[in-house]
Amino acid sequence: MRKILVTCALPYANGSIHLGHMLEHIQADIWVRYQRMKGNQITFVCADDTHGTPIMLKAGQLGIAPEQLIAQVRQEHTADFAAFGISFDNYYSTHSPENEKFSDEIYLKLREKGYIKTEKISQLYDPQKGMFLPDRFVKGTCPRCKAPDQYGDNCEVCGATYSPADLINPYSAVSGATPEMRETVHYFFDLPAFEKPLRQWIAGGAIPPEAAGKLREWFDAGLRCWDISRDAPYFGFRIPDTEDKYFYVWLDAPVGYLGSFKNYCDRHPEISFDEYVAPDSTCEMRHFIGKDILYFHSLFWPAMMAGSSHRMPTGLFIHGYVTVNGAKMSKSKGTFIKASTYLRHFPPEALRYYYAAKMNGSAEDLDLNLEDFVARVNADVVNKLVNLASRTAVFITRQFDGMLADTLTEDGLFTRFREAGKLIEECYEKCDYSRAIREIMALADEANRYVDARAPWIQAKDPEQKAALHETCTNSLNFFRILMTYLKPVLPDLARAAEEFLGEELRWESAATPLTGHRINPFKALFRRIDMKAVEAMLKDSKEDLAAQGKPAGTPEGKGSSSTRNGEQKAKDKAQAKGKSAGHDDDSVLAPEITIDDFAKVDLRVARIVKAEHVDGAEKLISLELDIGLEKRHVFAGIKSAYKPEDLVGRLTVMVANLAPRKMKFGVSEGMVCAAGPGGKDIFLLTPDSGAEPGMRIH
Ligand code: MSP
Ligand code: ZN
Repeated sequence: MRKILVTCALPYANGSIHLGHMLEHIQADIWVRYQRMKGNQITFVCADDTHGTPIMLKAGQLGIAPEQLIAQVRQEHTADFAAFGISFDNYYSTHSPENEKFSDEIYLKLREKGYIKTEKISQLYDPQKGMFLPDRFVKGTCPRCKAPDQYGDNCEVCGATYSPADLINPYSAVSGATPEMRETVHYFFDLPAFEKPLRQWIAGGAIPPEAAGKLREWFDAGLRCWDISRDAPYFGFRIPDTEDKYFYVWLDAPVGYLGSFKNYCDRHPEISFDEYVAPDSTCEMRHFIGKDILYFHSLFWPAMMAGSSHRMPTGLFIHGYVTVNGAKMSKSKGTFIKASTYLRHFPPEALRYYYAAKMNGSAEDLDLNLEDFVARVNADVVNKLVNLASRTAVFITRQFDGMLADTLTEDGLFTRFREAGKLIEECYEKCDYSRAIREIMALADEANRYVDARAPWIQAKDPEQKAALHETCTNSLNFFRILMTYLKPVLPDLARAAEEFLGEELRWESAATPLTGHRINPFKALFRRIDMKAVEAMLKDSKEDLAAQGKPAGTPEGKGSSSTRNGEQKAKDKAQAKGKSAGHDDDSVLAPEITIDDFAKVDLRVARIVKAEHVDGAEKLISLELDIGLEKRHVFAGIKSAYKPEDLVGRLTVMVANLAPRKMKFGVSEGMVCAAGPGGKDIFLLTPDSGAEPGMRIH
């Protein structure tokens, strides 16, 4: 029996689980369920990744404590994972006493052995907020192409990468203040000291060959020390023997694997934590991760473990990114689909099946083509698999009182099914699920051809063929049963329904022995056909969901971030743009991000109010005539609670001049006046600086 600790990457606690995350969790869950069926001892753990600047700022924006934010998000995350049947033994949090203890212990051990250094660095500081700014929180004009409002680490317009200090007119994305360079002492982990053990680790096959190639490139480029500290204010763990230094979130995040595992072991004495982490442990420790976080898991994490007298991970499973209909998940197209949005429209197992059918264990991206998704799930799960049972079970129930025949009589076909088990096992072990599914579906095709040739619906009409009918149905239900057993790691719910119907538990080791002379239960529909209409509804729902939710509070620092003195993280794959937020529709959350092109579409003009009148019967509206230089416009503005019409005449304001005219109860409104404030008396018309002329465009 193998003893295996399995983890998924810890999702950030400032955003919802989406179908990109689900790829990883489904991939790992299939592997775990397969290993459990094989009788191995698995502990499958995960947690929320709760520390760092974005989470701290987001909680601030929402006006709640970070602890409250992470508690809410954790609830949401666990509900999503449970709905998809992800069978964690423990889902914990990095904001836990266990994690703090291990982070401290590992750090102190590294320090004792001389692997921790300090150095003075310069970093941009927001004087208004009183905090150092991670790269992603500095914005400014790209030094290369001069595009405005680019992030501090790279330009989304021309692709240039640079340091935040290179930005032209930098500003803090947190407060808008101009940041200043300040010196501060940071703590560094001596990664270069671990080149040899890391090279050995890789040579031992811990990571797949393509990723190993990437790592060798990193080695050749030269490893650098890793910046593991952040200055207060920071939501995280304070570094021992310091006043105001905190562990960078990426230090305590992987330690969170151990924290979650320990928390589980403390409640399950049959599993020994120490046995799993000892330097000479024979237990396995396997991490499922996306390609964007390879650097952390193939360098820092194994080095931290080795340097603190622990074992290194046994291996990494690395997956690619989910694309939807051939493109990066997009909020505007509605293809940035949250797990919970998906679940309102489709059964979880449809996605489990589709991902499995396309996952081959490589780090290539995986396309969720929604049309293909619907077609494939219906064709395979409903037409091939479930159909095998539905079109034969009824005869067993009606004509044989539910009893299967005493023997199988199918000319070796069952043997082929049984023998395929070996290959399918290898496929599961390597996460080459697509190959496993291909094998299984090819067998389902054969089984269906068998049923077609025997035509039980004709046999059923002829009393002389009763024995033949019994054979046909017993055989085909045995085909169904063995295929369902092979698919149980992928489709646990369907397998459970099949178990109820077959009246026995589907177990890997009994798959090879046919089920005969056994009573089955009446067949009930096992799986609902899915529909393209639901795709459209889901995309629509998804757009609305995200629109209601607003812009993410910021991209998690870390990926592509660097207050690392050497910018070594830049070597790492850049993370895909992420959108994360906990779903609050109020002014404390920014609206969904738009591109510069979107903004260019809005024609904002300086307007002079030439006439302002009460509108009969309207409680809130004032009717305005606006001069925008080129023409006059008539606009209704809901500002009556704050302004008297006579006070408005002659004032300059800002208007959206290219808004489609809108027919309102009192007439047509030809634009919109910009105002600020929550309402009532507190509405403030935006006034352009003096010197502005009607018609001037605002840029
Ligand atoms: N918190 C870190 C991980 C710390 S592990 C010690 C993090 N969180 S994340 O929420 O951004 O991502 C979690 C996992 O989801 C990562 O493995 C990442 O690769 C994966 N994915 C996030 N978006 C994805 C897609 N669009 N497609 C596939 N996987 C993606 O990174
Ligand atoms: Zn640029």
